[in-house]
Amino acid sequence: MTFPADLFPDTARVGADGHLSIGGCDLVALAGEYGTPLYVYDAATVLARAGAYREALAAAYPARATICYAGKAYLAPWLLRLLAPEGLGLDVVSGGELHVALRAGFPARRIYFHGNNKSEAELRQAVASGVGRIVVDNMDEVRLLWRVAIEAGVSQPVLLRIAPGVDVHTHAHLATGAPDTKFGVAIDTGWAEALVRAIVDAPAPRRPEARLELRGFHVHIGSQVRELAPYRAAVDRLFAFAADMRERAGFVMRELSPGGGYPVRYVPEDPDVRPVDMVRDVAATAIAAARKHGFELPELTIEPGRSIVAPAAVALYRVGSVKRGARTYVAVDGGMADNMRPATYGAAYTAVLADRANEAAGDFEGSAPGSDRFAIAGKYCETGDVLVQDVRLPPPRVGDLVAIPVSGAYQLAMASNYNMALRPAVVVVADGAARLVRRRETYDDLLAADVG
Ligand SMILES: Cc1ncc(COP(=O)(O)O)c(C=O)c1O
Repeated sequence: MTFPADLFPDTARVGADGHLSIGGCDLVALAGEYGTPLYVYDAATVLARAGAYREALAAAYPARATICYAGKAYLAPWLLRLLAPEGLGLDVVSGGELHVALRAGFPARRIYFHGNNKSEAELRQAVASGVGRIVVDNMDEVRLLWRVAIEAGVSQPVLLRIAPGVDVHTHAHLATGAPDTKFGVAIDTGWAEALVRAIVDAPAPRRPEARLELRGFHVHIGSQVRELAPYRAAVDRLFAFAADMRERAGFVMRELSPGGGYPVRYVPEDPDVRPVDMVRDVAATAIAAARKHGFELPELTIEPGRSIVAPAAVALYRVGSVKRGARTYVAVDGGMADNMRPATYGAAYTAVLADRANEAAGDFEGSAPGSDRFAIAGKYCETGDVLVQDVRLPPPRVGDLVAIPVSGAYQLAMASNYNMALRPAVVVVADGAARLVRRRETYDDLLAADVG
């Protein structure tokens, strides 16, 4: 396999010594200094991905458009401080994410609070901190939020999450807009209309300034979605519903959020679908639908998570053993505790040797043809803990450094202490300098919350 540069961060280079570097920093040196597993994020790649979305929307959509980074993909103070000056919004899904965002100084007005079961405490926290939008999911939440807004005496802008009933061809666990989903309310059941009415027709409270202010509708159809058809269908359905609500409930949609879910390539075989092209198409669909239904262009919000951060990071692991059997297992010092996607979704990854990235894959001396194929096994006690099922590499040796690209999303965000693993350190690289932004956990951290 030749070095798959297009899967690595934009600044990845292979030096004459065979060492892989990112952001001008030698990964072999970083692993030596900070240990492994180590996650290395390239700030330039994050900014380039966010910038590409901004430019695509500015060119394709002649009205207000917002790029709202979906923090569930990976949330960390350094990242929020990098994205905030870029003018991005932020999508959070829990009181914890909201807390981290506020502590990092992210402007509350640019935060959208999602979730299918926000607690009263979370809604109070969101309203009190002045978040820009609360994306309401169900009737119980609308009732609760009315009470919270009235007690706080505020006018809270909200969007309503619609379940658009469109199927996407992605992993079942990543599809969120199908007819059977726990997220949002369906149009054809009448619930979507009931919620619109519950928000806009509610009796005026004693404090007239306190209210829920419905701005528009939100859908999110799934993640790692490569087709345009479901986005087009979702946008069309939202506009048709909005036109219906304008006529029957007197509500005029001013904002529209078709969510995130834009795909990234994890392995060389993945199709080369460019998220910015998809976003241009979504914008064109919205423009056409607005014209068809006689709407002024609503504010358009997109919510990419994975596609902004996944390509920006590599995960580095040290090889501890190379075991030949039915397959050759290259065991590394991390695994499903820091990346549960392969075990959970059967997600595919590839890998290179970061200390010998200039060497071609080759056979073991005297071994059968095809023995340049390896499985990269994690160290945790599950048979499913295999990070890469099949990758061609120069024969790995104990002590080699394995780099897995496209590791920036839904890995650290889902990391656990399974087997009492220590969550990895994180380093951010830019212009030849590396900054430790999260230290590796310690054994004492494992006991920090135990009180009995
Ligand atoms: C409401 C919402 N918006 C945006 C996203 C981000 O999706 P992705 O990271 O695939 O872009 C998600 C992911 O689950 C989501 O639930």
